[in-house]
Amino acid sequence: MGNRVKGKVAIVTGAGSIGPGIGNGKASAILYAREGAIVMLVDRNIEAAEETKHIIEEEGGNSFTFQADVTIPNDCKSIVDNCIKFYNKIDILHNNVGIEIPGGVVETTEEIWDRVMNVNLKSMFLTTKYVLPYMQKQESGSIINISSLNAIRTLPSCISTPYAVAKAGVVALTREIAIQYAAKGIRANAILPGLMNTPLVAATILDSYGGNIEKAMETRDTMCITGKQGEAWDVGYAALFLASDEAKYINGAALLVDGGLTKIWR
Ligand SMILES: NC(=O)c1ccc[n+]([C@@H]2O[C@H](COP(=O)([O-])OP(=O)(O)OC[C@H]3O[C@@H](n4cnc5c(N)ncnc54)[C@H](O)[C@@H]3O)[C@@H](O)[C@H]2O)c1
Repeated sequence: MGNRVKGKVAIVTGAGSIGPGIGNGKASAILYAREGAIVMLVDRNIEAAEETKHIIEEEGGNSFTFQADVTIPNDCKSIVDNCIKFYNKIDILHNNVGIEIPGGVVETTEEIWDRVMNVNLKSMFLTTKYVLPYMQKQESGSIINISSLNAIRTLPSCISTPYAVAKAGVVALTREIAIQYAAKGIRANAILPGLMNTPLVAATILDSYGGNIEKAMETRDTMCITGKQGEAWDVGYAALFLASDEAKYINGAALLVDGGLTKIWR
């Protein structure tokens, strides 16, 4: 067991995985626990959160599960109230929940637009809204919001307009919080994962790659300049660093975890 975030209390939303394997939220939660944090594993699917808890327990870490849907304002309040009730502080808020529904403006219904905005962006506004007063009282805290490469780049073969707009909103939301609360000891940073090999791909955007998972993964690997997609652990280690005091002078950043994908001209 390490001590990079020892004694800190962390909330991770979407701490399970949508399918078999390790997603970004799950990897981050495991790493926080491995480095000494007590982790509140929030998920609307409690079995998925329990699976993460099981892994953490086997490693000798400390965590507890909490069922909540982050698109519901009362659930967001209840996450924060319960964390305070049990541990009396919140050091890390890791907003991970996000969904992608492919489509451009014409293909996207109003209902899909609202859903993607609610799940990806409003959820982060809500959890942060309830967490900030406590962090302000503590005069410390680190907020990590999971955005996406789509916030700053468009992939012509997989247009996901509402997702891209919401993820760009996440970067702006993060920056606003970072500036407003910088002098109060609170930091907020966004992570922009590139193409990652996680269960989310098979569960939500497989159709954009012809519906075949092996082919989809091959295509995504080829698109990466390293020849391989990233892993959930890559996002998790970036989050761990940003959450820790090692990153005490990093605030308002939009950290790309994309293997350099955004740096090339094709
Ligand atoms: N995989 C990639 O290539 C990639 C790339 C860029 C960004 N991202 C971002 O990473 C994040 C996804 O990470 P993941 O791999 O952990 O995702 P995931 O799809 O595996 O979801 C993690 C958990 O979130 C839970 N969840 C979904 N909606 C919820 C809600 N409304 N309330 C509470 N829990 C909810 C699910 O039950 C699941 O257990 C998203 O924000 C996504 O946009 C992923």
